[in-house]
Amino acid sequence: MSSLPEILDTRPMTLPRLLDKREAGEPIVMVTAYDFPSARAAERAGVDVVLVGDSAANTVLGYASTVPVSVEELLMLAAAVRRGLRTPLLVGDLPFGSYEISDPQAIATAQRFVKEAGCDAVKLEGGGVSAERARAIVRAGIPVMGHVGLTPQTATALGGWRAQGRTANRALELAQDAFALQAAGCFSIVFEAIPSEVAAAIASRMDIPVIGIGAGPGVDGQVLVFHDLLGIREGHGARFVKRYADLLDEMTDGVASYASDVRSRAYPGPEHSYSVDADELAAFHRAIETLGAA
Ligand code: KIV
Repeated sequence: MSSLPEILDTRPMTLPRLLDKREAGEPIVMVTAYDFPSARAAERAGVDVVLVGDSAANTVLGYASTVPVSVEELLMLAAAVRRGLRTPLLVGDLPFGSYEISDPQAIATAQRFVKEAGCDAVKLEGGGVSAERARAIVRAGIPVMGHVGLTPQTATALGGWRAQGRTANRALELAQDAFALQAAGCFSIVFEAIPSEVAAAIASRMDIPVIGIGAGPGVDGQVLVFHDLLGIREGHGARFVKRYADLLDEMTDGVASYASDVRSRAYPGPEHSYSVDADELAAFHRAIETLGAA
């Protein structure tokens, strides 16, 4: 049974409308996308926000972490997503090393995501210096989404892939980072892998939409990685992932059936082949005999 919304709101998503949703207590739906078909799926499903995440490094480019992915790689993916999207807000993730050095570096990278890939906004990870970079990008006229908690670009420094904010001190640091990003002008913020009670307590003290991933139900919206929620991956992934399909299995079965049909000559059948007029074919056969072999 399809879960497609009966009536799709096709007005382009805007920052004020995201805020309205938060104020109305309507959960905000965000998903990642990395190419034209995933963008079309997000558009047709009626999500509010699409993120071209640097998780592309793992999901579509096969790197072991998000650290190596380059600006050029993400720009190419983001431009493909743009071509498939009309309604959701499109956010591009600034890759590791593309914004931390200075405000001019951060502004220049953010401008490329807007000018070259057509993104509506950018996202960056972490508090501290990232809040300063966020402020500079916002001042340059580009909306910014923050991201605190488990920030994959700096996971090594955080002690690995583990939930953040499980001690009072660390939870307070997260709150300070979130407030600093809000004060810097971020229009929204992602909370990743934070205990539900901590996430809800911080979110309730904020004025901008908080989108959770592994941050429980007490925030303003949820984001999941496209390949995680659709099972286009091997293994189970993080605790917070809910799988809505097993597409890698279906893809593998489809390719295996094709391979089997080719080997047994069941494919191609007459319905997959082109015909030619009998007289034209006879003429061709006569003519080809007169051609010398190469
Ligand atoms: O890169 C990504 O997919 C993300 C989401 C997990 C929020 O940053």
